[in-house]
Amino acid sequence: MGVTRTLLLAASQSRWLRARATRYGFVRRAVLRFMPGEDVEDALAAAREFSREGLSAVFTRLGENVTEEREAAAVTRHYLELLRRMRELALPGDLSVKLTQLGLDLSPELCHESLCRILERAGRECMVWIDMESSPYVDRTLEQYRRARARFPNVGVCLQAYLYRTEADLGSLLPLAPAVRLVKGAYRETREHAYPRRRDVDANFARLAARLLDAAARQKGMRVAIGTHDLRLIRRVQEHAEAAGLGKDAYEFQMLYGIQRPEQLRLAREGYRAKVLISYGSYWFPWYMRRLAERPANVWFVVRNLFSG
Ligand code: FDA
Repeated sequence: MGVTRTLLLAASQSRWLRARATRYGFVRRAVLRFMPGEDVEDALAAAREFSREGLSAVFTRLGENVTEEREAAAVTRHYLELLRRMRELALPGDLSVKLTQLGLDLSPELCHESLCRILERAGRECMVWIDMESSPYVDRTLEQYRRARARFPNVGVCLQAYLYRTEADLGSLLPLAPAVRLVKGAYRETREHAYPRRRDVDANFARLAARLLDAAARQKGMRVAIGTHDLRLIRRVQEHAEAAGLGKDAYEFQMLYGIQRPEQLRLAREGYRAKVLISYGSYWFPWYMRRLAERPANVWFVVRNLFSG
């Protein structure tokens, strides 16, 4: 892992830095490259724009590791209200939630109940994706996913290709006809848990994607979402899916707001299911540091904003 990436991921966990950095206008301006704004209405407006271009939205309100039950309850209420607004606007879309934002650190039961309330309200048409957080959360996240999957068809879970364990986790999930979003992984992990070299992560991503697509071709009810901006991997996935006999609408691509927009539009134009994950909210610091760590050249973008007034 590069030094800049390590430093940025360490910064993402610093409360001291979060309290300071979020006050500066130039940092707030730079953040707008990756999110349409802090307010949910900003996210809804961006989603309406995307839908005109053939892209659908996945909404996520920024936040993680809440420390009080009332915060977790407020997040749940927020998502229930968002689902109501989406219906009011006749705006289709999915949700992506972090379990530590729904109170996983406080009580697994509270978290499960909140997740189920959101899933119930979301209904069959709206997928609720569970994000995967750092490695100490993987077992608890998969446990919550299994419990929720037993009751709801519209729940999906994210798996990270950088973890050695993911191959076995995928194997254990396949009998559930799961919905899986595959990503490379964004947290600071040691070499004990995760491939330290990018090319090994990429190779594992390609292997896991192939396994997911083959399973989706064999069994009904599975959903596969490929969450990457890596054009080489996207091409490999397309080739493998075609060889496995899967149509363009049998799986989906998901990317983040503000990254590889031309590719997002190209996929939609070519008839693939392309979705944009739109993040919003005021708790953006750790998430933003992870975006910078993915591409340390982005730090220059922040610096440029310092001088652009
Ligand atoms: P890679 O980092 O190799 O990037 C490929 C190319 O994409 C780069 O060369 C660059 O052009 C562009 N790019 C990528 N990141 C960029 C950035 N920040 N700024 C500018 N350009 C950039 N992780 C996790 O641990 N848990 C989760 O739940 C999720 N959820 C999730 C959902 C969705 C829809 C996506 C797309 C991603 C996530 N992630 C995630 C993040 C994921 O793990 C990973 O960190 C990022 O997607 C970056 O990795 P890529 O696959 O894009 O490859």
